[in-house]
Order: sequence, then structure tokens, then C-alpha cells
Amino acid sequence: MAGTGSIFLFFFLSLLSFSAISEASKCSAQEFPVVRNISELPQNNYGRGGLAHTTVAGSLLLGLKEVEVWLQTFSPGSGTPIHRHSCEEVFVVLRGSGTMYLAPSSHEKYPGKPEEFFIFANSTFHIPVNDVHQVRNTNEHEDLQVLVVISRPPIKVFIYENWSMPHTAAKLKFPYDWDEECLELEPPPKDEL
Ligand SMILES: *[C@@H]1O[C@H](CO)[C@@H](O)[C@H](O)[C@H]1NC(C)=O
Ligand SMILES: *[C@@H]1O[C@H](CO)[C@@H](O)[C@H](O)[C@H]1NC(C)=O
Ligand SMILES: *[C@@H]1O[C@H](CO)[C@@H](O)[C@H](O)[C@H]1NC(C)=O
Repeated sequence: MAGTGSIFLFFFLSLLSFSAISEASKCSAQEFPVVRNISELPQNNYGRGGLAHTTVAGSLLLGLKEVEVWLQTFSPGSGTPIHRHSCEEVFVVLRGSGTMYLAPSSHEKYPGKPEEFFIFANSTFHIPVNDVHQVRNTNEHEDLQVLVVISRPPIKVFIYENWSMPHTAAKLKFPYDWDEECLELEPPPKDEL
């Protein structure tokens, strides 16, 4: 009986170390060429309907300290959650159109009714640090594709269920969807507001 048990334990440990190795290689830049074809980089929806996300240049992937770049495509009706983060963020709209919702940055206890901005191909905008915002593809006829640059990666996102949820109730998501597989062992940081 003890023999069988230790064989199972051996298999279990082998499986664990095997998955640890494949996780590590998925998150290391070793195998990437200097110049990379974006169409050949991994793309995933991370369980979010309508999203196609590619980390073009990643902090966890390439060891970048100051910036991270994403390419994201949102199908009609999809978008980001209502959220905030303490990094800067710049968007360049490559294709399609949609709506950017930005809560007025006041000292209210909750975001309040957001301002709505029409965004379109070849438009650009940035999100000030900690401003609550959401980007949605509100064009029912085509995909919305954006290139996104953030500072201070990896990102720590605070998510709101609606615009009247108190800032203090926003839920921290860290590591964020696409960082999870590389950062799952790190403890979450404190709320920065
Ligand atoms: C980049 O990858 C796409 C998809 O595999 C391919 O169609 C395209 O030819 C590649 N570009 C170059 C310059 O290799
Ligand atoms: C985007 O804007 C730049 C600057 O005006 C212009 O050179 C470029 O042609 C525009 N691209 C598209 C696809 O409209
Ligand atoms: C906003 O979300 C909070 C938390 O789920 C909920 O308690 C509240 O009723 C919601 N408010 C509105 C206006 O939907």
C-alpha cells in the first residue's frame, strides 16, 4: 500500500514540476525573436466574451519596467469593465469606433455619471491616473481595435460593477487577466487610493 502511495506521489510531483516548467517558459522571453510578427504572438480572450487580447510588449514577458503594450480587439457590444488603475494609459484606435466613458475626476465617493466620448479609427486619447473609465465597442457593424500603452506594469485594476459603486468597494483584480499565468504566486498589493 505504501509503495502504491509513493508511486502516486511521485507522479503527482512530476506533474507539478512539469507544469511549473511549462508555465515558466510560457512567461519567459527566451524563445522570442528580436523582431516579432504581432499576428504570430499569442492571442486570447481570457474568458471575456468579445475580447481578443495580445500582449505586444509585456513586463512579465520581456522584463520591461516602465511600459507595456497591448493590442485589443472588441467585437460589437463588448468592452472593458468599468475600472481604474494608478498607471497612465494611452489608446490609439486602429479600427472601428466606439465610446469611451470617463468619470469626472472629483473627490466624490463614487465615480458618478461618466462623460461619453466618441472614439474612431486613428483617434487617440489617454486616461489620467486613477480616473474611472470604460471603453466599449458601441458600433454594431464592426470590431473595435485599439493599441494600448500603460505605464508601471504589471497593472493593478480596480473594478466597479456600476458608476455608483463607492471607490472603496471597487474590487482589486491582480494579477490582471493576462498576467495571471505569469504572476499567480505574487501576493496582491494594497489599494492605492
Ligand atoms: C506575419 O504573420 C502573419 C500570420 O501568420 C502572416 O500572414 C504574415 O505574412 C507575417 N508577416 C511577415 C512579414 O512574415
Ligand atoms: C492617421 O492620422 C495621421 C496623422 O494625420 C495620418 O498621417 C494618417 O494617414 C491617418 N491614418 C488613417 C488610417 O487615417
Ligand atoms: C451598483 O452595484 C452595487 C454593488 O453590486 C449595488 O449594491 C448597487 O445597487 C448598484 N447600483 C445600481 C444603481 O445599479
